[in-house]
Amino acid sequence: MATDTARKIGPVILLGPPGAGKGTQSKKIVEHYGIPQISTGDLLRDNVALGTSLGLQAKSIMARGELVPDELMYGIVGVRLRNLDCKRGFVLDGFPRTSAQAEWLENFLRIEVFDKSDKCPPIVIQLVVDYNQLLVRLTGRRTCLACGRVYNLHLNPPLVSESCDDDGSKFYIREDDREEVISSRFNAYEQQTRQVVNHYRDQHQLVAINADRPVETVTAHIFSVIDRHCVHGC
Ligand code: AP5
Repeated sequence: MATDTARKIGPVILLGPPGAGKGTQSKKIVEHYGIPQISTGDLLRDNVALGTSLGLQAKSIMARGELVPDELMYGIVGVRLRNLDCKRGFVLDGFPRTSAQAEWLENFLRIEVFDKSDKCPPIVIQLVVDYNQLLVRLTGRRTCLACGRVYNLHLNPPLVSESCDDDGSKFYIREDDREEVISSRFNAYEQQTRQVVNHYRDQHQLVAINADRPVETVTAHIFSVIDRHCVHGC
């Protein structure tokens, strides 16, 4: 049950390479502030599973660890952000990932989403994690087939091997968590998303935090950034 649901928040933009903890920390923000998580990776995986036209176009690109073309992303992100549940704020997990996406988002936020009289500037948080640690996190990630709970065989293992503590269901391994695909995802991050990080840093909008600490420590740091921003920014 969310505990902080009265005020407008964000939007919160979580940036960081694959495995930095964007999904993990987004869920903590959702639980605490009661705003939705907009994960472009999840939206795309849903489309792949449903076999939509977007899913068919994205499937092989994602399996190679490359980025889906910007024009395809604007459609799904735009539809999702116009949803009423985003009016109080939202956390973006995995978007923007290119300079063009960042520009598109800035225009979108200027024109839409929040009431014109009551806009909150984005809170941009970069999760910084060492690459060796990212590799451990991605190769150890396991997700419950039934409830979606995320584990890590090395860092946060289940009580009983290869099954969910909550419902006993089996795990699945994300197709793009194979080592050869991971290196291509890191490459896409360095070639395309690093520019987005630099852009927000140049605009003095970026807060970089050390995400190479226990989940709860990182969460507490993120909450303090959001709370400080929403006193001064919103
Ligand atoms: P997406 O699903 O966004 O994947 P990603 O960015 O590669 O990030 P991950 O989900 O792998 O990692 P995460 O940072 O969320 O870490 P997590 O919390 O899960 O994108 C997938 C693909 O979709 C892309 O490659 C691209 O093809 C496409 N795509 C998506 N968005 C796009 C866009 N905007 N434009 C174009 N294409 C797009 O944690 C990972 C593991 O670490 C877990 O096991 C977790 O338990 C563990 N962990 C987390 N935090 C900690 C901690 N503090 N300590 C110890 N373990 C931890």
